[in-house]
Amino acid sequence: MSHNTISLNKQRQPLHHLDSVWLFGYGSLIYKTDFEYLDCRPACIYGWERRFWQGSHDHRGTPQAPGRVLTLVESPGARCVGMAYQVTPDTFEHLDHREKNGYLRVFTPLHWLNDSDHSEPDETEGVVYLAAANNEAYLGPASDVEIAVHIAQSTGPSGPNSEYVLKLAQALRDMNEQDEHVFAIERELLKQLDR
Ligand code: SIN
Repeated sequence: MSHNTISLNKQRQPLHHLDSVWLFGYGSLIYKTDFEYLDCRPACIYGWERRFWQGSHDHRGTPQAPGRVLTLVESPGARCVGMAYQVTPDTFEHLDHREKNGYLRVFTPLHWLNDSDHSEPDETEGVVYLAAANNEAYLGPASDVEIAVHIAQSTGPSGPNSEYVLKLAQALRDMNEQDEHVFAIERELLKQLDR
């Protein structure tokens, strides 16, 4: 599959018949909201885990020297906490461009965190951007140290790859969320950066 997914996402999953859509963000979409939204709530999805296994040609690296960013991998019993944004369908023009480097939109059940409003159901359907192993930018697994060394050396049009990890780790801490993979990569990265 080509790593530019803009037209694939449009064809596979038209959204214009809907008034609004819940988008689930688990990576940069948690801390970088460069789009308008109607509402925003912490949420989680079950059966998936974050991994720094996706190459970034357009944000945190280049086609010649890709960075490493997050995708989700299936993991029975796992829980991935993130941020859900209620957006209008036209917002996906911007989002599809931003997430074009191998990510396909898929619908998934979303579960609300900190749900104090019992008049609402605790689950809804949302959209998540997933970079599967068959996309051309996919890098796959490596050791924590290898991933951290790679990230420490990478930079792209959106800035240093290290910033992606450090901002995400801070955003997860702010949400009181433990993510062993993200925090392990952050620890190794801080060693690499000599901080
Ligand atoms: C996401 O944040 O949900 C997708 C991956 C990324 O843009 O970092």
